[in-house]
Amino acid sequence: MAETVPAQTLEDRFEAVVAAEQRIEPRDWMPDAYRATLIRQIAQHAHSEIIGMQPEGNWLTRAPSLRRKAILLAKAQDEAGHGLYLYAAAETLGVDRAELTEKLISGRQKYSSIFNYPTLTFADVGVIGWLVDGAAICNQVPLCRCSYGPYARAMVRICKEESFHQRQGYELLMTLMRGTEAQRRMVQDAVDRWWWPSLMMFGPSDADSPNTARSMAWRIKRHSNDELRRRFVDMTVPQAEHLGVTLPDPELRWNEERGGWDFGEPDWSELTRVIHGQGPCNAQRVERRRTAHEDGAWVREAAVAYAAKRAAEAAGPTEASEATNVTEQENGK
Ligand code: 3HC
Repeated sequence: MAETVPAQTLEDRFEAVVAAEQRIEPRDWMPDAYRATLIRQIAQHAHSEIIGMQPEGNWLTRAPSLRRKAILLAKAQDEAGHGLYLYAAAETLGVDRAELTEKLISGRQKYSSIFNYPTLTFADVGVIGWLVDGAAICNQVPLCRCSYGPYARAMVRICKEESFHQRQGYELLMTLMRGTEAQRRMVQDAVDRWWWPSLMMFGPSDADSPNTARSMAWRIKRHSNDELRRRFVDMTVPQAEHLGVTLPDPELRWNEERGGWDFGEPDWSELTRVIHGQGPCNAQRVERRRTAHEDGAWVREAAVAYAAKRAAEAAGPTEASEATNVTEQENGK
């Protein structure tokens, strides 16, 4: 008979692994709340990658050159891959991808606020690469050291690809800035619209973030929302100067003492509205995801039927198929 390990011992072991900077793996014991937190965060992250294909997907058919189109297509495909790794990581915690998708399209699970804004010009594609992927990198590089093994490992590859995404965005913007006056204005307009939503990606301020303390104690999150937001601003201001654009924040100024940039407060009421479904494109983005899911039903059915056929073949010939073979031989087929 298997030995029953007391709950206290299991919890001590879990805490010791986390404290020693080792990884918790799917078959290890973990507190229910740790599992639930990971499912929540990884699912939201996966949904964000998939919904995040839509704003840029809007420009696939209208990219100004074959080169830009190929780059954008590759980027959108990367996002689909990120969603796949993340859903797979979530599944190691005992949930089913179909169930997570159902929760997304019925509005019971969140995805990042940033993907609820429209992409009005091609400069938005560049700004999404520079600011949105830049913010994603800031937030996600520390997740490579997350205490849960499958999530941490997925993040390593995702961050490498995000880094390319960020650079392609910056390169696109540099090209536009070397262009005409109208192109430069287009870049500035896109920066004006995306700056504050990018800062909001990091989540509410620490004072209003109910999950941060617990997630940091479990070493899922490594830094608070405000710490990462500050890091992003410090990283981005010199890039904006190099690019030749102004960041739309009159309170932005260098703090000599802190050795970093002070900046204004995002409009938290806007973040709350967007998170709760009232952003400019929430309804459209979820509806499109729902339609794509329904339109893809035949692909899932075909994949299941094919897997069943392969499994039956691997299990060896059944009496029925042997009988069919005999009949076919008798008929000279
Ligand atoms: N958009 C939507 N919801 C947000 C949010 C945002 N920008 N920021 C916070 N929230 C939600 C939280 O999910 C939480 O909701 P819940 O308790 O109902 O689940 C609530 O607001 C309170 O926020 P907390 O700060 O307490 O929540 P967390 O501790 O989970 O921190 C987070 C939020 C920083 C986004 C964290 O979950 C995280 O780091 N997640 C992993 C990264 C991620 O999901 N990024 C999304 C963007 S993906 C991306 O950018 C794709 C790339 O291709 C560009």
